[in-house]
Amino acid sequence: MRKKLKTFAVLTLCFISIWTINSCKKEQIAEGTDKELYDMSKATSGFVWYKNSSSLLNKSAGSGHPQSFLKTRYNSVAATKLDSNGKIMAGAKFPEGSLIVKELYDNSTTLGRYAILYKKTGSADADANGWVWGYINSDGTVAESASKKGTSCISCHSQADNIDYMLMNKYFP
Ligand code: HEC
Repeated sequence: MRKKLKTFAVLTLCFISIWTINSCKKEQIAEGTDKELYDMSKATSGFVWYKNSSSLLNKSAGSGHPQSFLKTRYNSVAATKLDSNGKIMAGAKFPEGSLIVKELYDNSTTLGRYAILYKKTGSADADANGWVWGYINSDGTVAESASKKGTSCISCHSQADNIDYMLMNKYFP
């Protein structure tokens, strides 16, 4: 009888731990707006690279992003605000549907995370300026949910000389 009880207790414990681990995992996988941003950012065709170059850049001194390397691309809507050198035009305001994806690399070959800015004024996750902020790991888990509306991003991206929040021009002139 005792042995049976012990077995039952062990099994119950196992079940609870597996269930807990699984539900944690589920929470982290991108859903809703985060999934939408992740899917849009994974697709690479039709984008234009900052300064027309897909080479990796060393992150700048001002970067709030932990990864060492980066490169930034603009979808065709956002690319209307790039000049012929692939830099953002002075005073630009990005139109609806603009998607800017910064690929963050842990090392020269491993893409670790996407930092995303998406102009969608009607979104429930948009901030006061109509931008949705995405921060999603390359494996599809969420680093910071868009539902937080960029709370940890906005003050740094509002610093002097930003252009509609963009900082690439300032740090990679
Ligand atoms: C402490 C400052 C700081 C914080 C906080 C920060 N960033 Fe950035 N971000 C930068 C800088 C500087 C760049 C320019 C490239 C670089 O050096 O990383 C940049 C670049 C970007 C870009 C490329 C577009 C551009 O020109 O700025 C995106 C997209 C972006 N960040 C998204 C985010 C998101 C999303 C968050 C919050 C989860 C965030 N950032 C938090 C400083 C910051």
